[in-house]
Amino acid sequence: MLVLGIETSCDETAASVVEDGRRALSDVVATQIEIHRRWGGVVPELASRNHVVQVMPVVDEAMSRAGAGPESLDGIAVTSGPGLVGALLVGVQVAKAIALSWGKPLVRVNHLEGHLVAVFLSEDAPAFPFLGLVVSGGHTSLYAARAFGDYALLGRTRDDAAGEAFDKGAKLLGLPYPGGVAIDGLAREGDPRAIRFPKAMVKGADLDFSFSGLKTALLHHVRRHGVPEGKGLADLCASYQEAIVRALVEKAFRAARRLQLERVVLAGGVAANSRLREAISERAREYEGMKVFLPAPRLCTDNAAMIAVAGTHALSRGERAGPDLNADPSWRL
Ligand code: KG4
Ligand code: ZN
Repeated sequence: MLVLGIETSCDETAASVVEDGRRALSDVVATQIEIHRRWGGVVPELASRNHVVQVMPVVDEAMSRAGAGPESLDGIAVTSGPGLVGALLVGVQVAKAIALSWGKPLVRVNHLEGHLVAVFLSEDAPAFPFLGLVVSGGHTSLYAARAFGDYALLGRTRDDAAGEAFDKGAKLLGLPYPGGVAIDGLAREGDPRAIRFPKAMVKGADLDFSFSGLKTALLHHVRRHGVPEGKGLADLCASYQEAIVRALVEKAFRAARRLQLERVVLAGGVAANSRLREAISERAREYEGMKVFLPAPRLCTDNAAMIAVAGTHALSRGERAGPDLNADPSWRL
């Protein structure tokens, strides 16, 4: 089964052709990072306009790199939410037009489901059920994934997403966008125990996250001591990163153990973080039978192959989207 995926929910224009929901024959991502960097974050209007320019060339490139003609496709999958409404609309409208003119079935895909199932493009894919930790620029959520299309939300962030905590923290430190990548790099040379930050936890709601207090703690630290240079900056990045990672790892395993899930899957842009990958693997070794699945960093950040994977299974279940498909910017999984 051959499915074309299209993804335009934020600042990457992406298209990919995936075979049987397991193998990406092409995976094209046109990133807008350089465009948004000078503004220190994603500017929604600029994102939409650039998707308009990029989307057809990206789709053409994905089809030609896969050596696929329209006739060989079994369907088209598009992200219709959650995300920036103007950005989503570009992908949705293009997918509808292509589906109509090529005479192919269309399905809508939830961007977060895409992240959760990106791991199926890895050689080592998990069996269901598994605990999924989705950590991206807009979301931080724990899911019990029971089958394709069947996910139970166990906990989520009450305020900032983990990626936002990285990005906003980096901005405070004068580091370039996207902040997660910058902090990850600097933290490698730093001591994570140099500065004590509060745990990013919520009292009571024990599988939820909260990162806004941590961000405020960093702000106070910078107001008091200024932004350090050299080793001091590396220590600050490592300590701040450690506080984010600690919260993510602790809650992921708390959820996995409570639901007796033996597989933990990391997903979303922040899953590319080297310390998170290391910490989650270290922690898994403490529990007998626990296995962690870490998709390659390229599969963690936004891409369309993951959308095609989710779409393949939605098509198999008989789901279809009609010409009335619209963007759903706050679609909850
Ligand atoms: O999943 P994604 O590409 O887009 C969204 O759906 O949001 O995630 C983007 C987020 C950004 O906040 C970025 O700073 C973060 O992922 N990120 C990282 C790393 N690479 C990307 N955060 C920490 N460490 C990284 N290496
Ligand atoms: Zn994403």
